Amino acid sequence: MSPHFLFFSRKQEYFFDSFFLQQYLQPLNLTIMKFFIDTANLNEIREVKAMGILDGVTTNPSLMAKEKITGKDNILKHYKAICDLVEVGDVSAEVIATDYEGMIREGRELAELAPNIVVKVPMIKDGIKAIRTFFNLGIKTNCTLVFSAGQAILAAKAGATYLSPFVGRIDDSGWEGMALVRDIAEIYAIQDYDTQILAASIRNSLHIVEAARAGADVITSPLGPILGLLNHPLTDIGLAKFLEDYRKGNQ
Ligand code: E4P
Repeated sequence: MSPHFLFFSRKQEYFFDSFFLQQYLQPLNLTIMKFFIDTANLNEIREVKAMGILDGVTTNPSLMAKEKITGKDNILKHYKAICDLVEVGDVSAEVIATDYEGMIREGRELAELAPNIVVKVPMIKDGIKAIRTFFNLGIKTNCTLVFSAGQAILAAKAGATYLSPFVGRIDDSGWEGMALVRDIAEIYAIQDYDTQILAASIRNSLHIVEAARAGADVITSPLGPILGLLNHPLTDIGLAKFLEDYRKGNQ
């Protein structure tokens, strides 16, 4: 039985907003897939937030560079602006260091910016060690650049809050990215790991649908694929006809 039915039906869930979800339901680990936007652009974050479906944000050094945010102070200021905008949702900010001490130093600094900061750590040996230390310090982490089930097991074992399998980049290399998400979801369910699967490197709306089917806890997507979920030509045709019929009868 889905854990949802222990508390309320899907229909009732509809009435709970993102804030309620993050504050009360998320800790219960219910399977309601969260929507993060994968961007450092404040206007794009605002757009999804205004739709009422924003649960968080992920960034990476490439996305920050795309917004021309450079220099340590500007980067930290920008993360703070994103955290303030998102309010309760988690915001992933990536460390640049690749050695353990450097990652801990940077991660602590990032975590001091706001309570909703998640320190993004690469899937390397020192990264795993850093994730364990952050876990012990009560600092949330997102283990990034994940391309195999073995890496997913290591990150969960170390206590990562989120795990980011890069779906699109796997597809780009001729493998099926979503198969990895399915595989990890199965392993995490068997082992009862707390780490949340954050399907990343989302390239299109179908990736979001497939991630939901594969058992991802979270998707992080650029704005385009999120808005693409709205689209169906029959919706447009149907709406135009309804409005036309209304106008005909109400002139
Ligand atoms: C987010 O956490 C990842 O860094 C991002 O989804 C990577 O996406 P890309 O493969 O499109 O660069």
